Amino acid sequence: MRAAVRLACLALVAGVALAPGAGCKSEPTGAAGKASGQAGSDRDDGDQSLFDRERQPEVIINALGLGPGKQVADIGAGTGLLTVHVARAVTPGGRVVATDIDKAVLEYLHARMVAAGFDHVVEGRVVAPDDPGLEPGRFDAILLAQVDHYFDDRTAWLARAAPALKPAGKLAIANRLHLRAAAVAAAEAAGFRLVTEVADVPGQFVAVFELAGAPPATPPPPPPPKAKATP
Ligand SMILES: C[S@@+](CC[C@H](N)C(=O)[O-])C[C@H]1O[C@@H](n2cnc3c(N)ncnc32)[C@H](O)[C@@H]1O
Repeated sequence: MRAAVRLACLALVAGVALAPGAGCKSEPTGAAGKASGQAGSDRDDGDQSLFDRERQPEVIINALGLGPGKQVADIGAGTGLLTVHVARAVTPGGRVVATDIDKAVLEYLHARMVAAGFDHVVEGRVVAPDDPGLEPGRFDAILLAQVDHYFDDRTAWLARAAPALKPAGKLAIANRLHLRAAAVAAAEAAGFRLVTEVADVPGQFVAVFELAGAPPATPPPPPPPKAKATP
């Protein structure tokens, strides 16, 4: 599995066309990006523009309600085409932990963050495939964009990630529509409940979950004081 993912990603950064829907479909075609220090070059900007047109990152940002100060885990961040939008959304004051199983793609990601001026916001973190690698209770949002289908056991992975959320924290799974049913079933089996879903981007979904046992994001107002009994 791991080798297949890496092959898909690296084939794309090397400019090899894959079938639609394969691996990192929208990843950069500019292999020279990091190697020759070109992250942020015209060619790289073209990759970002294409990604932004196809994936419409603002849909995910809005669905998660991301804003300044938020702590976000971007899982399977790849070369950071989406991460750069998340970093912008949480600035100032927020942080993004960008995980991946592949050290090489995180090096591209780091170069992209430096070029965009967000390297102080984003921490790249190499993780094992079955280990989210996130601190307990830290995150307002965990974002899985086009990655959950790579997990050997989606439910087990999500159950391991759940403790990393703050009490009203959100999990977002964004992926291609034909992968929706398996993603939602796994999230529910791991103890999440679906709270919002957006299908504004053709062929894709964004599903937002909270932990089923978690208190609601906005606590209900306290009950009015009881009237004193008259003697
Ligand atoms: C299709 S790319 C998605 C990149 C980015 N999230 C996006 O939406 O464009 C999938 C990425 O997930 C990574 N990945 C695969 N399995 C993973 C796992 N178990 N944990 C973390 N990252 C993983 C791959 O190395 C690859 O960089």
